[in-house]
Amino acid sequence: MPTITPLDASFGAVVTDIKLASMSDAEWKAVEDAFHQYAALVFPAQHLSDDEHVAFGRRFGKIEVLRNDGNEFAMISNKAADGHILSAEEKRFQSLRGNEGWHTDSSYMPLAAKASCLTALVVPGSRGETELADMRDAYDKLDDAMKAKIEGLVAYHSLYASQAKAGYVFRTGESYGFHKYGTPIRPLVKVHPVTGRKSLFIGRHAFRIPGMDDAAAQKLLDDLLEYAVQPPRTYAHQWQPGDVMIWDNRCILHRACPYDYSEPRIMRHVRVAGEPETELVQTAPDERADGFEPVAAE
Ligand code: OGA
Ligand code: MN
Repeated sequence: MPTITPLDASFGAVVTDIKLASMSDAEWKAVEDAFHQYAALVFPAQHLSDDEHVAFGRRFGKIEVLRNDGNEFAMISNKAADGHILSAEEKRFQSLRGNEGWHTDSSYMPLAAKASCLTALVVPGSRGETELADMRDAYDKLDDAMKAKIEGLVAYHSLYASQAKAGYVFRTGESYGFHKYGTPIRPLVKVHPVTGRKSLFIGRHAFRIPGMDDAAAQKLLDDLLEYAVQPPRTYAHQWQPGDVMIWDNRCILHRACPYDYSEPRIMRHVRVAGEPETELVQTAPDERADGFEPVAAE
């Protein structure tokens, strides 16, 4: 059976003595239970193939298809298919830089993601970690006045807004995630569908709170985020090729850390779709998204 060693943080565990590509039912049960308890798991030195990686993701639920290239995984890479290293002007580079802001995956889509599973193929000489933060602990440690203030509040989640905050102009149709159904509206306090624990559901895609002035809403979201992503509820994974890390997007924020962008950094990402009962929300019309046909299957 796997050895599960908690991280020195409010969440997360390292799982060893397991081969993800050939788990018994009992081993999978231990992994699934640990996922719910710890919310993020690191599996060193797994070296999964594309198919094994997708199969591991599928144990958690349906795969969210991120590109219309027929694959159930996406390469998160600054090296293009033709071998060149992306330059700062390229949209894909800007989307990688966008990942350096704290976020939760697909919150700007009507159906947010359940889990994201990354593995490293090529890592830069230093840095380029993936950092996680535990929004269960962040919620728990809010004072009662703030808990009362945010209970019942909702925010819009938009990639247009988050890329704009990162200093980029994102246009409809340029990448995954743009749909004609408007902007999702999500509660700031999320109840986990399995554990029942409350967490702060914020991050860079969140940008507008109905009933609040936009600037005041952004300040509240910024202040909450700054508070939320502090030790002991953060963990930065320093990648070795072959490592696998999965996190629960329903209660964990993540971000990529900077590195020397002239060096290749090649990751493979398998995203598990949220269950519609708990991750599908209403959208509001978005003046920037009209007329757009989806790029990827939804
Ligand atoms: C992602 C992401 C972080 C990283 O793939 O969704 O945010 O470290 N990646 O590459
Ligand atoms: Mn992400």
